[in-house]
Amino acid sequence: MAGPRAVALLALLALPVPAAAGGPAAAACDVPPDGRFDCGPERLLAREGCEARGCCYAPAGPGPGPPWCFFPRGYRSYRAENLTVTAGGYTARLRRVVASFLPGDVGSLRLDVGLETPTRLRITLRDPARPRYEVPLATPRVGGRAATTLYGVQVNQDPFGLVVYRQRGGQVLLPFPSRRDLVWKRDLAPAPAVNLYGSHPFYLGMEDGGLAHGVFLLNSNAMDVLLQPSPALTWRTTGGILDFYVFLGPDPKSVVRQYLDVVGFPFMPPYWGLGFHLCRWGYSSTDITRQVVDNMTAARFPLDVQWNDMDYMDAKRDFTFNKKSFKDYPEMVRDFHRRGLRYIMIVDPGISSSGPPGTYKPYDEGLKRGVFIQNATGQPLIGKVWPGPTAFPDFTNPETHEWWHDMVKDFHNQVPFDGMWIDMNEPSNFVEGSQDGCPNNSLEQPPYVPGVFGGRLQAGTICASSQQYLSSHYNLHSLYGLTEAIASHDALLRVRGKRPFVISRSTFAGHGHYAGHWTGDVSSNWEQLYYSIPEVLLFNLFGVPLVGADICGFVGNTSEELCVRWTQLGAFYPFMRNHNDHGTRPQEPYTFSPAAQAAMRNALRLRYSLLPFLYTLFHRAHSAGETVARPLFLEFPKDPNTWAVDRQLMWGGALLITPVLEPGKTKVSGYFPAGTWYSLAGVCAPCCTAGSQVAARGACASPGQWILLPAPLDTINVHVRVGHILPLQEPAFSTTESRKKGMALVVALTLDGFARGDLFWDDGESWQTFERGDYTEILFLATHVSDGGWRGASRHGAHLDGVLLEAVTVLGVTSPPRQVLANGVLVSDFSYRSDTQVLKVPVSLPMWEQFVITWF
Ligand SMILES: *[C@@H]1O[C@H](CO)[C@@H](O)[C@H](O)[C@H]1NC(C)=O
Ligand SMILES: *[C@@H]1O[C@H](CO)[C@@H](O)[C@H](O)[C@H]1NC(C)=O
Ligand SMILES: *[C@@H]1O[C@H](CO)[C@@H](O)[C@H](O)[C@H]1NC(C)=O
Ligand SMILES: *[C@@H]1O[C@H](CO)[C@@H](O)[C@H](O)[C@H]1NC(C)=O
Ligand SMILES: *[C@@H]1O[C@H](CO)[C@@H](O)[C@H](O)[C@H]1NC(C)=O
Repeated sequence: MAGPRAVALLALLALPVPAAAGGPAAAACDVPPDGRFDCGPERLLAREGCEARGCCYAPAGPGPGPPWCFFPRGYRSYRAENLTVTAGGYTARLRRVVASFLPGDVGSLRLDVGLETPTRLRITLRDPARPRYEVPLATPRVGGRAATTLYGVQVNQDPFGLVVYRQRGGQVLLPFPSRRDLVWKRDLAPAPAVNLYGSHPFYLGMEDGGLAHGVFLLNSNAMDVLLQPSPALTWRTTGGILDFYVFLGPDPKSVVRQYLDVVGFPFMPPYWGLGFHLCRWGYSSTDITRQVVDNMTAARFPLDVQWNDMDYMDAKRDFTFNKKSFKDYPEMVRDFHRRGLRYIMIVDPGISSSGPPGTYKPYDEGLKRGVFIQNATGQPLIGKVWPGPTAFPDFTNPETHEWWHDMVKDFHNQVPFDGMWIDMNEPSNFVEGSQDGCPNNSLEQPPYVPGVFGGRLQAGTICASSQQYLSSHYNLHSLYGLTEAIASHDALLRVRGKRPFVISRSTFAGHGHYAGHWTGDVSSNWEQLYYSIPEVLLFNLFGVPLVGADICGFVGNTSEELCVRWTQLGAFYPFMRNHNDHGTRPQEPYTFSPAAQAAMRNALRLRYSLLPFLYTLFHRAHSAGETVARPLFLEFPKDPNTWAVDRQLMWGGALLITPVLEPGKTKVSGYFPAGTWYSLAGVCAPCCTAGSQVAARGACASPGQWILLPAPLDTINVHVRVGHILPLQEPAFSTTESRKKGMALVVALTLDGFARGDLFWDDGESWQTFERGDYTEILFLATHVSDGGWRGASRHGAHLDGVLLEAVTVLGVTSPPRQVLANGVLVSDFSYRSDTQVLKVPVSLPMWEQFVITWF
């Protein structure tokens, strides 16, 4: 077990200059306020105490601002010795020069610099004398060293400093600013400047000219990440080792893929998981839950997955159900299945521990099999969550995975659920530490506590010194949600034999390989509607593309207008769920006025039309490390105007979504990078019935510009980027039905008549269809064939039998075609409008065969 004895402090200072002996010289203290690194992060220091640390003292005004006590230029913490070349890169020994202000300095460190690939560098600092805790993430093994690299590394020996720069152009990459603060996880409603549910110590930095790099600190301890305007970044972590990965891109998409090469590509969700999900805390019986589904059907809203919060449980205990209000629970779930729906319920990690022995199998079995996290006396640590006193399963123990699987299986034998919603897994605890408090030791009271809410590591969770199979909770806290997600994913796969679907509140780097995420207990207000966009975009950069916020908000009463706007944006969350708190006004789509319902129905039908495209994006994420929802700068890195856009999002490289995020607005301003964008207007008329589809209209052209778009309450602005082909399908009331409907293509031609797109298709739920080759992939290509024309090329494959291509809409056809042919046969009822330059071709072609459409 690695203690917190050496608080790792790595201030990546700008290029160092030698320090004067006996304390900082005036010149060394001449640091501009923006560039000052805090030398007294743990308490306020007076001049004397500050200078005793060898630091500079310069009191500034009250309130937030530069630190009063800061490191001088060229501060000597370590000196590098014996720098040598190794098979993988370099190694050196670092010797502490002066004692730090924290106890337990490590006097000698081993530095390893691994030139792992041409675009990936790994920098590791370990204590050679005493192994410390390391994050149990399986990272790629590397044999030798990359011969040529995009990066250069410069080691300054005394004082030790390390500079990473781009070979070409010499741009220094470390230090560089980050986009996110991350610390210690806690169950709280999202609010600015406090730690929340997850930890992803990764940032992506943009450079001049559209280049990008990324840095990942593989460390799961409580940490501070501080941004300074200089620009610079300080990581301050309270344990483990320093294990940095640097990714050189050189473009931002490559940075994301290089990060995912290390933490794992996203899992492939089942097709139904991309449909609409509906939930609320307060569906107090099977009767009510059935009513919800009936009311959705009666109001003609699509619905794929009905959920229940804790209401189904008996005394709020996992793997039980209330035999009165949920008497026919198994039958209800089977009924949903017969209607083509799926069913998911909440599961919390805390296992009720207060019943008499023999009354609650999960606890009895868990005790017997030793699966619970232990306190200082080696007994299960008892905290308090919804059911009252609870023990916490230790998901770092392989036996716990077996036990969890057995519980999931037992319950599934009674109630054939389709996925798991794992909540409260930071883990959340309603008493601080445990019912018996926490011991007073160096893990509970470390010499330095990062800026966590409440100022104590135990606040809202379990004791830091509680013991898990792999290490202390102090080290493993941030992995709780991830390890539970892995156990749940594996259990579901074994029990159902199909692709698992798990949504988790707590996450850590690598989470997306196993599960998705919802953004927790957001409030029903406009600010949180807006925040959900950067959140969804960040989680895509983190490799967790299956992400969404609770549509219409969770905490507090929503309003009709907010709920309409949120449903419109939510139609473009990769994971789309409306979820409501108990005691607030209802917010199911059918509870609003006819006009609001119509707007929501349109948004839902638009999403269902686009599902083949969305599913294909998920396939690209799973197979190639791409993002699904995407910030504009990923597609347009060379246009600096895109870098800060966080009120719009893209789906893949093809769709730009510009939602309304404020009340009372009927117009919305959006940024349109250079190029032509076509509006997907007429918000989802039945997209596949011949002739009546997507009306398109040229929107804007170069250079990039802000454009004010009309956005009445029934409209969400969605634009197609030229050069792309979107596969669509006629919507239905569930994906079970929509997957059998006719398909359509929207082709947005470039000025020189080119476009491309693809479709990934399989049975939608079998395990590893891509890996086993049990799928169809179709490439669509539009090119000039002598006189202009268009071509779809299908690689024959599985699961498309019976699905017809029924309509092709071509945007950007500059002159009226005289003739249109589908597979050489004349199409007489095509239509063309010269004002919009839209060509519509009704067809009836098997999707499972190659086809060619031409016009001239
Ligand atoms: C570093 O090199 C010096 C002299 O070459 C040698 O005496 C010393 O043992 C080396 N130290 C380590 C830790 O390898
Ligand atoms: C379903 O609709 C009926 C009829 O409008 C209404 O009385 C009932 O409260 C609704 N149930 C739920 C759970 O929304
Ligand atoms: C450990 O937990 C048990 C309950 O499982 C409790 O009786 C005991 O007092 C706890 N020990 C400490 C040191 O808190
Ligand atoms: C913990 O113990 C230390 C000495 O070992 C003492 O100084 C400190 O006040 C104690 N803290 C608490 C919260 O009891
Ligand atoms: C929310 O709406 C409910 C009615 O559904 C009402 O009783 C409650 O007072 C409202 N709460 C607030 C904070 O407005």
